[in-house]
Amino acid sequence: MKYTSKLTVLLAFVSIVAFGQKKIDVAKEFAFAAQQYEGMLKSHPDITKTPQSTNPDGSPRDMPTSWWCSGFFGGSLWYIFEQTKDQKWKEAADKWTMAVEKEQYNTSTHDLGFMLYCPFGNGYRLTKNEKYKEIMLTGAKSLATRFDPKVGVIKSWNNWKGNKYPVIIDNMMNLEFLFWAARESGNKDFYNLSVTHADNTLKNHFRPDGSSFHVVAYGPNGEVATKGTHQGYADESAWARGQAWALYGYTDMYRETKDKKYLAQAEKIADFYLNHPNLPADKIPYWDFNAPNIPNEERDASAGAITASALLELSTYVGKAKSKVYFAAAETMLQNLASPAYKANLGENNHFILKHSVGAKPLKSEIDVPLVYADYYFLEGLLRYQKLKK
Ligand code: GLY
Repeated sequence: MKYTSKLTVLLAFVSIVAFGQKKIDVAKEFAFAAQQYEGMLKSHPDITKTPQSTNPDGSPRDMPTSWWCSGFFGGSLWYIFEQTKDQKWKEAADKWTMAVEKEQYNTSTHDLGFMLYCPFGNGYRLTKNEKYKEIMLTGAKSLATRFDPKVGVIKSWNNWKGNKYPVIIDNMMNLEFLFWAARESGNKDFYNLSVTHADNTLKNHFRPDGSSFHVVAYGPNGEVATKGTHQGYADESAWARGQAWALYGYTDMYRETKDKKYLAQAEKIADFYLNHPNLPADKIPYWDFNAPNIPNEERDASAGAITASALLELSTYVGKAKSKVYFAAAETMLQNLASPAYKANLGENNHFILKHSVGAKPLKSEIDVPLVYADYYFLEGLLRYQKLKK
């Protein structure tokens, strides 16, 4: 983050502390999001080029539908429709959801949960459009082809440093899609393989302090071959978004199964995150909790948005005292994301809502930029916050 951005973060924080906790005006935030995304729709006439981020030269960075983020824009449009009830957002959401349709046959990625469940899942929840359901059920079958019962996991990639079964913690995010598919199709396999994947991840991905490795690579019989990182600072570090995916994923696991061990794991991850000495006062983390030059490292607003949304759900499952802590932390995070420190001015930021996320710093990719999924989880968090406030 540049010096001026750091100053804005500091001023926003000081004003919140000085003037007390301002409530978040969710309707106002969505009115802004709608206006900002009007601009995004106008600047994106071609639905094969999905809004993703900003290039180093400042131009919009668009990606094909095969990219793991292709479903987030459609998903965000559904959230705007859910809040505004305005039919024009339903039409836009349908158009950008159907843009990803062909990915239902994609068996080369574990990211079908993100790609299909965010747009089609929200679309189906809000409209009960049977076409969306059929596409998702085909997609769930495609995703399940990546589960190997002998290894006991859904493989994330086909190869990582010579290993054939690498699993990244992000993969936990694809499981709620499979739980949905199990319910809708009656096929228990989707449920069982998700539980097996989550159990093996629980066993192998976490350190005693509750933080998670980014990658665990398995051998053909399910033995751990190696552990490390792909997008974090170091193999032993806590990559911020990885912790966010883990928290969200195990909160999902508890929702879907009601197994207390997943709840305990979600709490452990939340407590690691919230009590970490390197977590800044505004609770939006640096891109890695162990990045070497903290405080002169970039923040990752996407990790903050994912964590805020997950904490709001988790706050509904835990005892009263912890619930207050998680809700208050999420509220602070959303409040700060909605402040000028992180939120763009209308018409700027290539029409994304949030600034200051990091995609993959070690790969020199997407550093201190908007990211489409930061916007998605920010909007989701706002809706969850609004429901809980009511
Ligand atoms: N799933 C990839 C990432 O979080 O960057």
